[in-house]
Amino acid sequence: MKKIKIETTFDVYDSVEDLAIPVQKLLKKATEAREKAYAPYSQFLVGAALELENGKIISGNNQENASYPSGLCAERTAIYYAGSEFPNQKILRMAIVAGSTKNPTIKPIPPCGACRQALSEYEVKQNTAMELYFMGTSGQIAFSKSVENILPWVFDKSVL
Ligand code: THU
Repeated sequence: MKKIKIETTFDVYDSVEDLAIPVQKLLKKATEAREKAYAPYSQFLVGAALELENGKIISGNNQENASYPSGLCAERTAIYYAGSEFPNQKILRMAIVAGSTKNPTIKPIPPCGACRQALSEYEVKQNTAMELYFMGTSGQIAFSKSVENILPWVFDKSVL
């Protein structure tokens, strides 16, 4: 028997001003996307914005449904659009801003498990790390250097 240890490291920034300008811009786009989210059932609004290698920014937000499981998270709304419209463009980074309208969300909100799996698909496909920045509607910003960093030992195409 042997034990396998997987370690994860994050950077946590106290202020948006501590981040590079392109990242600040991406967070702003995610914030704008969040404001247009359709989340009448949870009142938890999420915006995501991703930057392609050609400089284009694609954003998306959560789209809920009266039939709850038919809704979709912001991250997947954004990345599926990018994958369908720009299939050959690498995704450099994604910013995610999430928060409830019922109470302040002041800590970084990481992507859900299903979104990690979906983002991982594109990271594996492009064979290049996708940076992730995520935050609440204010407060600290968390940075992960890749999707793999928050979804180690992933199920991917190599096993099929
Ligand atoms: N949600 C996202 O958009 N992204 C996540 O990573 C987690 C959850 C959405 C789904 C649902 O509309 C609301 O947040 C509450 O779960």
